[in-house]
Amino acid sequence: MNLNLEGKKVFISGSTKGIGFEAARLFLDEGAKVIINGRTSTSVQDALSDLDNDDASGLVADFMYDSHVKTLIENIPNDIDILVNNVGIFKGKDFNNETVEDWNDHFKVNLMSGVQLSKHFLPEMIKRDWGRIIFISSECATLVPSDLLSYSVSKASINVFSSGLAKLTKGTNVTVNTIVPGSTLSEGSKKFLEETALREKKTKDQVEKNFFNDVRDSSLLSRFLNVTEVANTILYISSPLASGTNGASIRVDGGSMGSIL
Ligand SMILES: NC(=O)c1ccc[n+]([C@@H]2O[C@H](COP(=O)([O-])OP(=O)(O)OC[C@H]3O[C@@H](n4cnc5c(N)ncnc54)[C@H](OP(=O)(O)O)[C@@H]3O)[C@@H](O)[C@H]2O)c1
Repeated sequence: MNLNLEGKKVFISGSTKGIGFEAARLFLDEGAKVIINGRTSTSVQDALSDLDNDDASGLVADFMYDSHVKTLIENIPNDIDILVNNVGIFKGKDFNNETVEDWNDHFKVNLMSGVQLSKHFLPEMIKRDWGRIIFISSECATLVPSDLLSYSVSKASINVFSSGLAKLTKGTNVTVNTIVPGSTLSEGSKKFLEETALREKKTKDQVEKNFFNDVRDSSLLSRFLNVTEVANTILYISSPLASGTNGASIRVDGGSMGSIL
């Protein structure tokens, strides 16, 4: 299937690793021009070397800092066609140990990054009458694990924001949608598997099996998604082929959320 993404200009926040990096790789394969982002010049340069493609470039910015976001926005070309609000942080603490700072950090990086970038790019997309804004939420937005409250609430807020933002595109060829991944084997999850395996003196396969038996038992897939499974959906929803989908939450959760819509 030709996704018709050739020549499209794409910005992906938090894309030196994981789902964002994989989406960048797939966009480049489709002939798009991609700007990746991470917190340090080393991580951005390493990712660009791995991508090894003249159509890839990078911008360093940490969404924890307002000054970085301001400089980032000043440096991204105005004519971005596809904005993927992928950056997300995740601090696994139970409610009693979560600080107000933890709550603020989750909202700053997970929600406000996308709010600020959308504020900048949506009017331009509407002027040009074409554009895609994609948010990356999480199954935690509806599963709401009690040890991931601030993360889950920040992710749920993304679905709410994205749904409202989509209403501003009425009558245009711009769409705003949210992709909702389930547990995905990115660098973060690999580290979790390795550390738990070491601590519990088990193999990574045993830890993964236990996670899907005990913690994420609602998953029909009963295994971690791989980053390509999530990135494939990002590419489709970003493409002109997905013109009929707007204001939607699209699950790539391996069935964990269990809802019929
Ligand atoms: N993995 C999962 O199981 C899962 C499940 C559901 C939803 N999600 C969501 O999917 C998205 C991607 O997750 P992932 O697991 O693929 O991530 P990941 O592998 O942990 O990678 C995180 C990326 O974000 C960048 N980053 C982190 N903090 C940043 C900040 N403050 N400013 C700018 N960049 C920052 C990192 O870049 P540097 O290290 O170069 O700074 C890196 O490129 C997130 O929104 C996450 O919440 C993930």
